[in-house]
Amino acid sequence: MRNRDFAATLSWDQENFVHPWEDMEGLGAGERSFVESADGVRVTTENAERLIDGPGGMWCVQLGYGNSELAEAMARQAREMAYFSPFTASNSVSAQLAHEIALRTPGDLNRVFFTTGGSTAVDTALRFVQFRNNLLGKPDKKIVISREKAYHGSTYLAASVSGKERDKNWFDQADELTHFLPDVNPYRRPAGTTVEEFLDAKVADLENAILEIGAHRVAAFIAEPILASGGVVVPPEGYHRRCLDICRRHDVLYICDEVVTGFGRLGHWFASETVFDIVPDIITCAKGLTSGYAPMGACIISDRLMQDISGNASRGATFSNGYTYSGHPVSAAVALKNIEIMERDGVLDHVRRISPLFQERLADLSGLPMVSDTRGMGLVGCVECNVDGMDGEDALQLDTEIGARIDAHCQRLGLLLRPIINMCVFSPPLIIAEDDVNLMFDILGEGIRRAADDVARQRKRGA
Ligand SMILES: Cc1ncc(COP(=O)(O)O)c(C=O)c1O
Repeated sequence: MRNRDFAATLSWDQENFVHPWEDMEGLGAGERSFVESADGVRVTTENAERLIDGPGGMWCVQLGYGNSELAEAMARQAREMAYFSPFTASNSVSAQLAHEIALRTPGDLNRVFFTTGGSTAVDTALRFVQFRNNLLGKPDKKIVISREKAYHGSTYLAASVSGKERDKNWFDQADELTHFLPDVNPYRRPAGTTVEEFLDAKVADLENAILEIGAHRVAAFIAEPILASGGVVVPPEGYHRRCLDICRRHDVLYICDEVVTGFGRLGHWFASETVFDIVPDIITCAKGLTSGYAPMGACIISDRLMQDISGNASRGATFSNGYTYSGHPVSAAVALKNIEIMERDGVLDHVRRISPLFQERLADLSGLPMVSDTRGMGLVGCVECNVDGMDGEDALQLDTEIGARIDAHCQRLGLLLRPIINMCVFSPPLIIAEDDVNLMFDILGEGIRRAADDVARQRKRGA
């Protein structure tokens, strides 16, 4: 039941606020929960329900909610100097942040271009690759290879390299610049195929695509270390390493999209080298960079890529790409404080310590009714649920309904989820304690059982 005083706010939300991924059929009629306050790993709704935040906002609230040190860093910077144009001048917080990021990136990824979030970081990476090849006299080398189920953002180019088919249905995209490799989810490998054979096939997909298109036309390969909103797809071990080797062989750049995996989600500042054994050419990050307290992203480019197009080799070019809020001082100040706290409080160690419990509890769900797969790494996980459809049932509608039911039960029990159709994904704040990890999975298990009972009852009635 909604608080009656909330009626006006609800109508503003319905009539004026167009949300991401807005459902056009139900425009103006949806009743979203309102999250009005939050502390630690819990959010509070307008009805004073306190819920554990399973998705960590949107994979981003690394240090949890209500952190007064982060809030104070932002307030201090806003009082001191909230904003000045990065086109005209620099400021010491952004310069220091660029330095601190460069200290934590692998290899020679030392050039940090600040953006407003993940999509603009990816967009910047793609525009940089085009710009660089034009300068190098390779104007035909423009195709970017991506993968089915990838999500890289919502700007035109970032959306064009995203591979979630349903999201593209009614949109135009830069199809002439992209090529997609088939699903890399080992769970969906053909029957009778081992994981090793599947890995060989997936690596071959990349090389075959480059050979088919022609290496002289392929500019880059873009990949999330773990396909995040595509359903937390962890590739077989060695996949990224072998893909990087192929890219190197064919002069194709490797863009590693660490928007979700960066800043601690897998227990390291960046996952590329420490977890996946690759030093890519470009890393994009956002989200956890500020723990979600202010919008900011970054496109981090290697010195090597810069060298042959700068100085005497620049041909007088300007990299005309930038945002009013590139290196926004308030965002930079909170990002610096975020790094300082993570380091001081051993947050990355904590993630590495608590991840085995998280993954163990996740795997335990596989014995429950409807659960068809569980997968994850570090503090990110996914539970996929399915029921066999009956004659006349629409599979997508059924899957969506399952996710929604689990979500509704969990919310009643004190856990906020983010169902993506029939998958529930988790990426709680990194500071989550053992008790709350256990509570989260206890509730999720109960939510799945109750949703399975609903389905069984419904079927009985229908039979
Ligand atoms: C891997 C990845 N890249 C890019 C983005 C886009 O980031 P943003 O929503 O900050 O623009 C996302 C968002 O979820 C993401 O998961």
